[in-house]
Amino acid sequence: MNIVMVGTGYVGLASGLGFAKLGHRVVCVDIDASKIAKLELGEPTFFEPGVPETLKEMLEAGRIMFTTSLKDVVDEAQVVIIAVGTPPLPNGQADLSFVYKVAEDLGALLRHDCVVIVKSTVPVGTNRIVLEKIQRAMQEAGHDEATSRVRIGSVPEFLRPGYAMEDFFHPARIILGADDEETFSVLDRLHAGLEAPRVRMSIESAELTKYAANALLATKISFINEIANIADEVGADVREVAQGVGMDPRLGPHFLNAGIGFGGMCFPKDVSALHQIAGTKGYECKLLSAVIEVNSRQRERFLRKVEHDLNGFKGKRIALWGLAFKGGTDDVRGSISIDIAQRLAGRGADVYAFDPKAMDRAKAYLPENVKLCSTAVDACEGADALLVVTEWPEFREVSFEAVRERMIDPRIYDGRNLLTDLELEKKGFSYKGVGVCRPGRHS
Ligand code: UGA
Repeated sequence: MNIVMVGTGYVGLASGLGFAKLGHRVVCVDIDASKIAKLELGEPTFFEPGVPETLKEMLEAGRIMFTTSLKDVVDEAQVVIIAVGTPPLPNGQADLSFVYKVAEDLGALLRHDCVVIVKSTVPVGTNRIVLEKIQRAMQEAGHDEATSRVRIGSVPEFLRPGYAMEDFFHPARIILGADDEETFSVLDRLHAGLEAPRVRMSIESAELTKYAANALLATKISFINEIANIADEVGADVREVAQGVGMDPRLGPHFLNAGIGFGGMCFPKDVSALHQIAGTKGYECKLLSAVIEVNSRQRERFLRKVEHDLNGFKGKRIALWGLAFKGGTDDVRGSISIDIAQRLAGRGADVYAFDPKAMDRAKAYLPENVKLCSTAVDACEGADALLVVTEWPEFREVSFEAVRERMIDPRIYDGRNLLTDLELEKKGFSYKGVGVCRPGRHS
């Protein structure tokens, strides 16, 4: 099939490459000419495992193309996928202006049979508004008779940055939302070659499924963080509890890692948006308010522990490991690690930070008294404490002998329970995780 993908961010590029690899011809459109120029040369504009190789392969095979001109390519498209950004507005709602602009641009151009899919995560009801906007623009362009040839399909995205390509090719399920059999069959053809259960449903259900999935995952995280806080108080170990709980297949072992909470551009935004969507219909969703509140106080609880042990942060030198919102990505949007760096700096600490991939992107958000270091060990020079705030697996491989030699006071506060089993106390550190009373005893 001929696919036009509008937007070349994580979702647009990763799924565009995925569809190309499935055998479709994909044209990616972006208004940012510098991004398009790089992509044409085979250079991804962000770090994502698997993307550079697939990009090279698909460019060589002639199955993916890049352009800034929607007008030049839309006539051939059987499917148009909108994957532009929906950044949060100051009031927490998603800014849909980019999505709606694409809808209007498309409407001015479309005249033929085409299914339009919104991949950007959008509030329930947005797909229908997008269709209305397309059809209105078609009428204004004098193509009234063709409005029924454009149909809308909702295929929510479940890709995780860091695993985007893997998630594209091995999804747990594919959610297909549409109004009619003809659209469902186009969506089926689009996903041919992916071995995953497909679930057909209404457009509104598909839109809500995306929010519900992210909200339930976020709820699991806030829940285990509450258990960790209780574990801290009663002398239990949250990792042991999570293991015991997760072995019940009704509960499952995933997303039970306690720590400083969830960040990123998805969970915080989506949980708040779902809460708000319910609110606009007059329904107060108490569970989601609690999930949000637990998440926002978790990082402060962590910081208070350190602050108490150090007798305040003023004039203290803090090594900070991690700036990305999670391990495996250079994405710093909604990163709790950045928030922690800002809070530390605001309380008078000198922060020495290191991240394997995210330092370039982090720079813009960091105040002056946060210095970026070239290695994890360098960040520990003269430090009064080391705070681990992003779950990068490579932090486990660092030489802790070298870390101890560099630190003034060998204290480690592990906000991700990443190093709990490394027996750091035996290596001369004072080690504290989140809800972990027996470090080293768990594998
Ligand atoms: C999430 C979902 O997992 C994807 O399925 C979804 O497609 C994506 O949002 C989206 O809506 O586009 P993502 O935000 O990339 O993906 O990251 P996750 O791996 O889910 O982690 C989110 C946050 O939760 C991170 O800050 C991570 O550190 C934290 N987390 C995760 C925990 O604190 N504990 C856990 O057990 C798991």
